[in-house]
Amino acid sequence: MDTSLNYNYKVVKQFAIATVVWGVVGMLVGVFIAAQLAWPALNFDTAWLSYGRLRPLHTNAVIFAFGGCALFATSYYVVQRTAQVRLFSDALAAFTFWGWQAVIVAAAITLPMGMTSGKEYAELEWPIDILITLVWVSYAIVFFGTLVKRKVPHIYVANWFFGGFILAVALLHLVNSAAIPVSLGKSYSAYAGVQDAMIQWWYGHNAVGFFLTAGFLGMMYYFIPKQADKPVYSYRLSIVHFWALIFTYMWAGPHHLHYTALPDWTQSLGMVFSLILLAPSWGGMINGVMTLSGAWDKLRSDPILKFLIVSLSFYGMSTFEGPMMSIKTVNALSHYTDWTVGHVHAGALGWVGFITMGSIYYLLPRLSGKTEMWSTPLIEMHFWMATIGIVLYIAAMWIAGVMQGLMWRAVNADGTLTYTFVESVKATYPYYVIRFGGGLLYLGGMILMTVNTFMTVRDGEAVTARIPSLAPAHA
Ligand code: HEM
Ligand code: HEM
Repeated sequence: MDTSLNYNYKVVKQFAIATVVWGVVGMLVGVFIAAQLAWPALNFDTAWLSYGRLRPLHTNAVIFAFGGCALFATSYYVVQRTAQVRLFSDALAAFTFWGWQAVIVAAAITLPMGMTSGKEYAELEWPIDILITLVWVSYAIVFFGTLVKRKVPHIYVANWFFGGFILAVALLHLVNSAAIPVSLGKSYSAYAGVQDAMIQWWYGHNAVGFFLTAGFLGMMYYFIPKQADKPVYSYRLSIVHFWALIFTYMWAGPHHLHYTALPDWTQSLGMVFSLILLAPSWGGMINGVMTLSGAWDKLRSDPILKFLIVSLSFYGMSTFEGPMMSIKTVNALSHYTDWTVGHVHAGALGWVGFITMGSIYYLLPRLSGKTEMWSTPLIEMHFWMATIGIVLYIAAMWIAGVMQGLMWRAVNADGTLTYTFVESVKATYPYYVIRFGGGLLYLGGMILMTVNTFMTVRDGEAVTARIPSLAPAHA
């Protein structure tokens, strides 16, 4: 059989299933560390079960394993369908799948062992960093190679976002991971002092902007119009959205370092760019939501569309909150508190999680020769459990965060502190229990998704979708 006549769905399906599996694993660790914050004895006095080691395991698993596999799956699907050609190289695409799984397994072993470079979201040690680089270069070759051999003259906007994300992450990873190895499991950053901090948070913020946002906006621009069966609200706005977003994100990193040794003007620059970032973020959100105009009724009966559209409300919420938190006087209250954790999860659970779930629910039946998922009521139940879970999580963290900030700065008439630190920890306890409950609900929804996924792909045949010979505008 001449495979060049068909799309490569195999690697898309592998990544789609891996997304669901790693989602459960990463969220399970999240729920476990949430429980540890409420009941610290749960570390069982075992080093590799301790909070400090499992927290980076959680962040790496949800961002790079769950989010990363979703980005690979959707970008490979979208680039083939919109370019109307098979992936540039099957062998390299397979290498990206197995290489990425190897990175994830290596992370799951080394982080609980305590091996870390100590840089948030870039904790993995140098041998794993080299493997990541190899996988990423292969990913770029597959993605851009496919675009180069496309049959459609136009490059659909979703690919701009995926392409921007791939290039930016390559740059961020290479610059921030520069280190001097002292042994196989230990290295020291190539930068020192405040420069190290600045490089780290230039990386950290753009990890949010490109890993957790730009690629997922690529999903938004393909899967929302597809599921709603409507064209994107404004194509012109989507192009403005792309350039404004990628230009602005790069400058906002210093808002993570307010009131530190970083020069004051740099902090103010970070704050101003963060405030400007509200405009492209909301422009993009409005473009996504308005795609549904004239077809709002579909939201009533289609739980996949609910995931996709509600993700945008959380995107709007977190990209309003973020600029507010970047204002120095607001940050003086929010920094170090659980408010930040609430902001993170409004974006992570609401935006990243929901747009991923909607897109994967769209993909799975199409990759398994089915017309729809095994059970639509189960998707509906997933949606409601996850939504209630998020609300519990972020509301608890908002209240806890503002309370902590206010307690820490309260002073008596004689200038002494009104509260000891431990009093603020004690006051936070109920909110940690509520967050644990919210996390459990969110994880429960993910388990329903796993059952639904298994039943959908179980007896599905390998799909061979033929590439149309005469290309219409967008597939
Ligand atoms: C306009 C967009 C956004 C702006 C201006 C922004 C701004 C901020 C600010 C000011 C902080 C607190 C920094 C601190 O006090 O340490 C923060 C933390 C964070 N935000 Fe956002 N945010 C935005 C959107 C998002 C989105 C959509 C996500 C997730 C998908 C996200 C994920 C995070 C993470 C993970 C942190 C915590 C970083 C850490 O300390 O480890 N942000 N953001
Ligand atoms: C069942 C769902 C989840 C639960 C219960 C959960 C729980 C937690 C907990 C307890 C922390 C540590 C907070 C602290 O140190 O005070 C954390 C941190 C974090 N989680 Fe999650 N999480 C979940 C899902 C996710 C997902 C899906 C993502 C991303 C897509 C994510 C991204 C993060 C990030 C970036 C941090 C670091 C935040 C910071 O440094 O401020 N989480 N999570």
